[in-house]
Amino acid sequence: MKENIKSLLEKVEQFSTESLEKVEEFRIKMLGKKGEITQLFDDFKTFSAEQKRELGKDLNELKTKTLEKINEFKEFLANSHEKSDAVFDMTMPANNEPAGSRHPISIMRNKIIDIFKRLGYTVAEGGEIEDDWHVFSALNFPPEHPARDMQDTFFIEKNPDILLRTHTSSIQVRAMEQNKPPIRIICPGRVFRNEAISARAHCIFHQVEGLYIDENVSFADLKQTLLYFAQEMFGKDTQIRLRPSYFPFTEPSAEMDVSCKICGGKGCNICKGTGWLEIMGCGMVDPNVLENCGIDSKKYTGFAFGMGVERMAMLKWQIRDLRLYFENDIRFIRQFSTVV
Ligand code: PHE
Repeated sequence: MKENIKSLLEKVEQFSTESLEKVEEFRIKMLGKKGEITQLFDDFKTFSAEQKRELGKDLNELKTKTLEKINEFKEFLANSHEKSDAVFDMTMPANNEPAGSRHPISIMRNKIIDIFKRLGYTVAEGGEIEDDWHVFSALNFPPEHPARDMQDTFFIEKNPDILLRTHTSSIQVRAMEQNKPPIRIICPGRVFRNEAISARAHCIFHQVEGLYIDENVSFADLKQTLLYFAQEMFGKDTQIRLRPSYFPFTEPSAEMDVSCKICGGKGCNICKGTGWLEIMGCGMVDPNVLENCGIDSKKYTGFAFGMGVERMAMLKWQIRDLRLYFENDIRFIRQFSTVV
């Protein structure tokens, strides 16, 4: 008996297979009704108490080890079976899935950000739902300013303090409140204005605004920065011009035009015969705004600028209807698949 147990134990330890059927065969051979181990248990019943004491432990151990081995193989083969069912033909031609393309708004936003990154600007973002302070009050909007009017701003649940941001200048306010100068940030984001949808206006659009605050920042710095931007975006021969304008948060304020690329400045229907295209608002940050945000306006000055991404893309790629951006007609989007 002792010998039998030993040799069966060796058999069990050496058992190995790659098929589930062989595992089952092995189980029957060992533990089936007429299995070799079952047989030993039958013989065991006839032994004396002393023999039983001597062999019982070994016999039980043999049975446990056999069951363990069987289960181990069953589990392993059941799992590996699933995987080996999926046969790969490595020589098969690949599925020719057409690559998607970026939306023109994303392409333009990234282009703008890239140019300013080269000048040391970092990207700052903020929430689309804002409060009156960060969108208007801190930015020096007088209480009766029309931009706060129900016609321009989407308010949330009739609470005039909570609204959808109408410009990304709110990000700049938060940046000024939270950081000490020098601050040099570029703020991309989606903005909302209550406007009727047409070829030239939409209630949702995208802006990129910039802010630079440090000691001795001047209007000349602003002009040079914007010239660099315009030439990087529209070509080295691009000219810019600044026209006086008004924003509550900048003083002095200006609108920036670039020379029309289509007609080279001679005048065409894109630039409405003027030779110039308006692309952004800008100016020196009003000292009131700096003070509202906890920045010493005697020590620091800064400039800010802001542009519409849709408009920039329209000018760059001569898109004539703003609604095309939002309809996502694949024939329109696909035209930008080669633009990077
Ligand atoms: N916030 C302005 C707008 O939305 C754009 C702007 C930004 C103008 C910074 C001047 C300076 O129209």
